[in-house]
Amino acid sequence: MKQDRLLIIGAGGQIGAVLTEALREAYGSDNVLATDLRPLTNQTGPSQTLDALDAAALAETAQKHGITQIYHLAAILSATGEKDPQRAWEINMRSLFNVLETARTQNMHKVYFPSSIAVFGREAHRENTPQHEVLIPETVYGISKVAGENWANYYFRRYGLDVRSLRYPGIIGYQSLPGGGTTDYAVDIYHYAVQNKPFTCFLRDNTPLPMLYMPDAIRATLELMEAPADKLTVRTSYNLSGMSFTPAEITASIQKQVPGFQVSYEPDFRQAIADSWPGSINDSTARADWGWKPEFDLDAMTADMLLNLRAQYP
Ligand code: NAD
Ligand code: SER
Repeated sequence: MKQDRLLIIGAGGQIGAVLTEALREAYGSDNVLATDLRPLTNQTGPSQTLDALDAAALAETAQKHGITQIYHLAAILSATGEKDPQRAWEINMRSLFNVLETARTQNMHKVYFPSSIAVFGREAHRENTPQHEVLIPETVYGISKVAGENWANYYFRRYGLDVRSLRYPGIIGYQSLPGGGTTDYAVDIYHYAVQNKPFTCFLRDNTPLPMLYMPDAIRATLELMEAPADKLTVRTSYNLSGMSFTPAEITASIQKQVPGFQVSYEPDFRQAIADSWPGSINDSTARADWGWKPEFDLDAMTADMLLNLRAQYP
């Protein structure tokens, strides 16, 4: 067991719910404080409500619990962000500043802040998008992540704060539901498949996007946070890749196990967001610096998703 004491912000979200449990296993339940704007249920360790926009409450909570690492997962995601861009900017940026300042002034060891494939726009290479690429995002979410990455880098260079970050692709898992992103269809589709209900996809069938299965995403996060600081050459955010597929390809993967599963396509405003993102990501820098390697491909993920979701829909 390690000595650090961790604060998770956004612990009730799609990734936070799973990451919190993994961190409790690694650091001991009592050393991981789960927080969210929403009340948290089914917790296996300490938890409380906390608004990351409330700088004083955040600082006081961190001080009171002797926090040494913050995992800042609270954000408004790509699709929800487009409905109220100014609110998305306010929440994503102000919460990050509050986290960075709390960590800096309380001399914390480390901060984790996830970025996203949403930092890329149409000017970026669409396939095998490199680590160091032109970043002209088309969503307020992507703009906030580019700015956040640069502030993370700034706090590292200027103050020596050990901020680490991954550009997650779309994350797919059975444990939790997604919270307003453009890749959400790739979670929802499995829930429909196990219930033998037809699914309507909000993207065109031929839209490739980078994705990652939750166990790989959680392992990547822990591995990055455990890596020796002197191995890390990227202090904005690391490209991270697992698999890439289109809605037609995930449908075919599911149909191998659920024959007769029906999917129709009704693209909405999220199609334009997906069209501005890469189809695949080059994560060679993460592999070289801290040994990243994904384990799940599309069919392995499908098998595991269906197995676990069938238990949820008996
Ligand atoms: P989510 O929307 O499922 O969860 C976010 C959580 O933050 C929610 O529980 C929400 O209640 C909480 N929250 C919102 N405002 C808050 C505030 N002011 N104070 C405290 N909590 C607040 O998001 P997620 O999918 O779990 O994503 C977590 C992080 O990973 C985000 O930064 C997101 O941008 C990033 N990310 C996610 C994906 C993905 O596919 N899920 C991909 C790339 C990056
Ligand atoms: N899955 C996220 C979204 O679609 C990517 O950051 O918003």
